[in-house]
Amino acid sequence: MNENQGNNKQVAGFSKLNKRDKIYWIAKNFLYANPVDILKEFAEYWHDNVEAQKLLDGFSENTLTNFPVPFGIAPNFLINGKIYAVPMVTEESSVVAAASNAAKFWLDRGGFSSKVISTVKVGQVHFTYTGSREKLFKYFHSVKDELREGVKSITTNMEKRGGGVLDMELIEFPEEDNYYQIRAYFETVNSMGANFINSCLEEFGKMLREKVRDSVIFNDDEKNIEIIMCILSNYTPNCIVRCEVSCPVEQLGTFANGTVSAEEFAWKFERAVRIACIDPYRATTHNKGIMNGVDSVVIATGNDFRAVESCAHTYACRTGQYRSLSNAKVENGMFHFWLDLPIAIGTVGGLTSLHPLAKRSLELLGNPDAKELMQITAAVGLAQNFAAVRSLITTGIQAGHMKMHLTNILAQFQATEVEEAEAKSFFANKVVSVSAVRDFLENLRRSTSFNISPL
Ligand code: MEV
Repeated sequence: MNENQGNNKQVAGFSKLNKRDKIYWIAKNFLYANPVDILKEFAEYWHDNVEAQKLLDGFSENTLTNFPVPFGIAPNFLINGKIYAVPMVTEESSVVAAASNAAKFWLDRGGFSSKVISTVKVGQVHFTYTGSREKLFKYFHSVKDELREGVKSITTNMEKRGGGVLDMELIEFPEEDNYYQIRAYFETVNSMGANFINSCLEEFGKMLREKVRDSVIFNDDEKNIEIIMCILSNYTPNCIVRCEVSCPVEQLGTFANGTVSAEEFAWKFERAVRIACIDPYRATTHNKGIMNGVDSVVIATGNDFRAVESCAHTYACRTGQYRSLSNAKVENGMFHFWLDLPIAIGTVGGLTSLHPLAKRSLELLGNPDAKELMQITAAVGLAQNFAAVRSLITTGIQAGHMKMHLTNILAQFQATEVEEAEAKSFFANKVVSVSAVRDFLENLRRSTSFNISPL
């Protein structure tokens, strides 16, 4: 056992240490390495600009360094008649290439039609009450407008922008004794709206408790409302965008070097999507492919990808079974492929204007409003899904992955252009692995140096 492994790993006041001391402490207690070396390594990822680093550090807590993830562009996205070069942040190889490829494919076939169907956000006040349920429901309806009026100081600015509190209802859950909730509905226009919604909810909770306490309708045993929590819901089934592509089947062209016809492709594609609609195992992977694209845009624009993910997966379960978020059909000679995506994102507030690259991403997209960003994001999700299913039902997914994998490995071994070309032709029909590429390059380099005749 390393002698350091017996160290007490608990720490008090870690957050108060400066960055250097935090790194030293981590190096000593968890990495068992020379703290100076670790500091040097972490410092390599610090921003040269001290102010910029301060800004990044401020986004989170106990920050030691930055964790770089590639920021790429998928060009040629034709969405509602407008061309976009979409910024995507992802660490997964092939994702940006696949999105770009699908964008190009649909560019020649009319592009993506994306439409926001609704933009309602949801929040909840969870509370307990031990009196007559009828009394509570009647009372809630009588004070609903007062509750709404009571948050005017919070909602005035939002109302000026076209948003605010849309409605609220009282809901009970018979399986949980004495538990009720106010479910409130909001329009937050171009902001994701978390702070706005949570502030309103906390105020609703406070007001409801006070009003019930002061009301003569309730007897003493009924006056004690206990607020459990007030928080927005990340499930927004009424904040939905629908994105679709379609074209005559024959315009799909052929696939896999002409070995798969348009008709066969359309038939197999429709079948593959139907499988994802009935089998949760396949649906999870299918939807993961959609989220490869969606998350990349959500992250690039400084939005909350955990919120978008959890919402998408709950929505995928709305029928009681986890299913594909996308659908496909071939009808009257037309191929249709579409996606309904609940996605609560914003273009103002939060990180969108604080993170310099998020700001740049939005600029790249022409500074869209939230609805336009929803439309773009859904199009990238659909493109990603199209590319994945297209590969799966034609060449198989590994062919494309292996190509990327090979490029990455060649870069790792600092292959020259000539070596790269040789390797690509050698591995065209072989399994790529780090050791196989290393062996190949070693052989190639050995034979090349052997063949060079001395001057
Ligand atoms: C890999 O990140 C995503 C895919 O597995 C999606 C799919 O299977 O549809 C290729």
